[in-house]
Amino acid sequence: MRAIQLTAVNQLEVREVAEPVSAPGEAVVRIAAAALNHRDVWVKLGQYAGLKFPCIPGSDGVGEVVAVGTTADASWVGRRVVINPSFGWGTRQDTQGADFSILGLPRQGTLAERVAVPVGQLALAPEHLSDEAAAALPLAGLTAWRAVMSRARLQPGERILIGGIGGGTALFGLQFAVAAGADVWVTSSNPAKIARAVALGARGGFDYTKPGWAEVAQAGAGGFFDVIIDSAGGNGFESLVDVAAPGGRIVFFGATRGNPNVLPMRKIFWRQLSLLGSTMGSPADWLEMLASVNRHRIQPVVSEVFSFAEAARAFERMERGEQFGKIVLKP
Ligand SMILES: NC(=O)c1ccc[n+]([C@@H]2O[C@H](COP(=O)([O-])OP(=O)(O)OC[C@H]3O[C@@H](n4cnc5c(N)ncnc54)[C@H](OP(=O)(O)O)[C@@H]3O)[C@@H](O)[C@H]2O)c1
Repeated sequence: MRAIQLTAVNQLEVREVAEPVSAPGEAVVRIAAAALNHRDVWVKLGQYAGLKFPCIPGSDGVGEVVAVGTTADASWVGRRVVINPSFGWGTRQDTQGADFSILGLPRQGTLAERVAVPVGQLALAPEHLSDEAAAALPLAGLTAWRAVMSRARLQPGERILIGGIGGGTALFGLQFAVAAGADVWVTSSNPAKIARAVALGARGGFDYTKPGWAEVAQAGAGGFFDVIIDSAGGNGFESLVDVAAPGGRIVFFGATRGNPNVLPMRKIFWRQLSLLGSTMGSPADWLEMLASVNRHRIQPVVSEVFSFAEAARAFERMERGEQFGKIVLKP
């Protein structure tokens, strides 16, 4: 079969590779569409722990089950499924266990014509979604759901600020927060992306590249934010503390800009802020996320669709942060 393989740092190739085989309890899914996450960029750049070459990246996939191994429920064959990329989470809701891993490293990922995964990772693909839209859902949808709903416990009417709204995960955060009846605000480096976020239900947004954006945000949004969702980190983190309401929650699941140089402890303790780390999601988060997508008929935002042959361009687009939503790849 054909797959997008990383053979060394920054060496991306479409290659013929061995067919995956379903081990006991596993299914082989014929991939109709896959999608990129920023994780795939970190892997390509050689900046991800546990890298081994060659590897097939990709955590997001939708497709048809074409075979199951022994002990697996054969009724999955022929079904259109999405794959939960959160493997071995364990039994606790508050944190993952020691066996947690993410599809697409160390395990061979979804940027391939076929992938083998345990049947426990499968769910029926939402019927209202095209293959491209369903492929966009798994990793970013799960991460955003846990951050906004399980960790921040966003309440209707609360004011939430979601950073870097062009990102795939951030946009799911926006959609879940709008569906939850929150007052949603965003940040972006690009005014056109803010306008598109407003079309999706945000009240407004702020350009995080402009000095003083935090003061503008306090004035423009009529006060502070109860919940802040961030995956950039870096020195911009202090501005997030500045715009957090007393008793507010700041949830972060990424550090695209690295660690902040300063943690403003006095501001954090005086305003009784909670800093909440989050990563991917539990099986319960996954099921709740899918149920919400089905209930609210949420349409994931697909930025572009590329063929496997165009993989290098797809990765470049994500590396440059040009996308609005998810970048999808089709075999
Ligand atoms: N822990 C986990 O389980 C988990 C899961 C998913 C993602 N992540 C991490 O979260 C981050 C985002 O992932 P993704 O897949 O959603 O990425 P993505 O789709 O590549 O998101 C890129 C977006 O990040 C925004 N951004 C870049 N620099 C920023 C800054 N200084 N301040 C605010 N926003 C900034 C940009 O938004 P604008 O274009 O609007 O400016 C850009 O479009 C990555 O670091 C990723 O590794 C972690």
